[in-house]
Amino acid sequence: MMTATALCPLDDIPDGGGRQVSRDEAGEVAIVVLRRGDRAWAYRNVCPHFSIPLNYEPDTFWTYDGEHLMCAHHSAMFRFEDGVCVDGPCLGAALTRVPVRVEARMVIESQEDDGL
Ligand code: FES
Repeated sequence: MMTATALCPLDDIPDGGGRQVSRDEAGEVAIVVLRRGDRAWAYRNVCPHFSIPLNYEPDTFWTYDGEHLMCAHHSAMFRFEDGVCVDGPCLGAALTRVPVRVEARMVIESQEDDGL
């Protein structure tokens, strides 16, 4: 069965940046949503290097050129599109993807991933 959950408005995410959202009310499932223009990608906010959050300060994510997300701890660089680490201590590892789509400028988590 397909489930869909609205994560956040696209326009709440800085263009070329990221923002943290929580899927559950307890805030235990932290997700970072990345945006470039009208596109968005989402990943669990867990760095594959040390299994800790990618950010150091609350809801503050370091990104470069709207292309890469940088872990605040040891500077691993992850591609927006697939979450693969292209530079840093966990080269070749990947963030855990949360499938999302953008609909009416809302980022929606959906098990049916249309690749947006
Ligand atoms: S914990 Fe993310 S690069 Fe080390």
